[in-house]
Amino acid sequence: MIYLDNAATSWPKPPETIEAMHAYLETVGGNPGRSGHRASVDAARALYEVREAVCTFFNSKDPMRVFFTHNGTHALNYVLMGMLKEGDQVLTTAIEHNAVMRPLRELEKRGVVIRTACCREDGTVDLDDFARKIASGITLSVVNHASNVLGTISPIGSIAELCRKHGVLLLVDSAQTAGSLPIDMQDMGIDLLACTGHKGLLGPPGTGCLVIGSHVDSTAIKPIIRGGTGSRSKEEYQPEDLPDKFESGTPNSVGLAGLLAGISWVTSRGVDIVRSHEVKLIARLIEGLQSIQDITVHGTRNPKESVAVVSFTCRGKTVSEIGLMLDERHGILCRVGLHCAPSAHKTAGTFPEGTVRLSPGCFTTLDEIDRTVDAVREASRS
Ligand code: ALA
Repeated sequence: MIYLDNAATSWPKPPETIEAMHAYLETVGGNPGRSGHRASVDAARALYEVREAVCTFFNSKDPMRVFFTHNGTHALNYVLMGMLKEGDQVLTTAIEHNAVMRPLRELEKRGVVIRTACCREDGTVDLDDFARKIASGITLSVVNHASNVLGTISPIGSIAELCRKHGVLLLVDSAQTAGSLPIDMQDMGIDLLACTGHKGLLGPPGTGCLVIGSHVDSTAIKPIIRGGTGSRSKEEYQPEDLPDKFESGTPNSVGLAGLLAGISWVTSRGVDIVRSHEVKLIARLIEGLQSIQDITVHGTRNPKESVAVVSFTCRGKTVSEIGLMLDERHGILCRVGLHCAPSAHKTAGTFPEGTVRLSPGCFTTLDEIDRTVDAVREASRS
């Protein structure tokens, strides 16, 4: 089997991730912050360790402003649904995932105005259009760090500069970049980072986090879930204390133990090393696919401007036909269709059919890429 669906979820996970989850279940066991006994205290300590690791990994300042979520969607919803209200204007781009667009469309029904900065067909953000639109009373800007369809990397530094100039908060969706591209929240000017644990960070599904910069007024974000936090138990109102305000209910401590191991793995390998390996993989993949007569590769086709996500279409074949042939005849696993991002496909001109998406990961080899190119060549001719 050749697994090329790392943009959906990374696989395999390092053995360390699996071992950490196993060890947690076997040796820790308590519910963090809920009781005073040693197992609960151990669990709280373990959770704090993950908070610190996430904070350090993204160079944020305060671990108590790292909030655990189920995934990136959950983290994005926390900010969008918790912050925006009737009359607010939000600026986004034309390549966003439905994790952003669906909450925004719901908010639109409640009187929030959505402005969308244009992107070129290859997924690059039109910064002039972004600059024009941000000057019209925007409260929050929400931007994909890299497209899950085209792989195209957004110029977060330039976008952050525009946000700062206009006093607009910047929320970055790092679903396709955390662990694969360096992210330094302070250096890049990211105010709020939504992150998933099960992709580039090599943790298990069911983990994610929201990181709120230390300068951001957390009272401007209302929790979308309220409940027990293990703190201020005599009060029936949600506490404002961080991180409890945004973390009601028993957390996924087992998954978070795995996430910590994943982050440690990426840290010890080095994000730069992971990145340069993935650039080599997609350079070979793009070159190989472009040498096939009926194949069109979408996106920038420049490995340095893209994460490890390559989308293509094939003249005379549906994306499902190609996907099925790759799976059944060659054991190559990919994702076809619209990838929960209709807006990105409209921008790329691949809506409504979608694309075949190949997304290698840090464990993919160049040999697997060569075999995939051969398989796509065969599929395109059959
Ligand atoms: N958002 C993930 C993907 O692009 C699940 O496949």
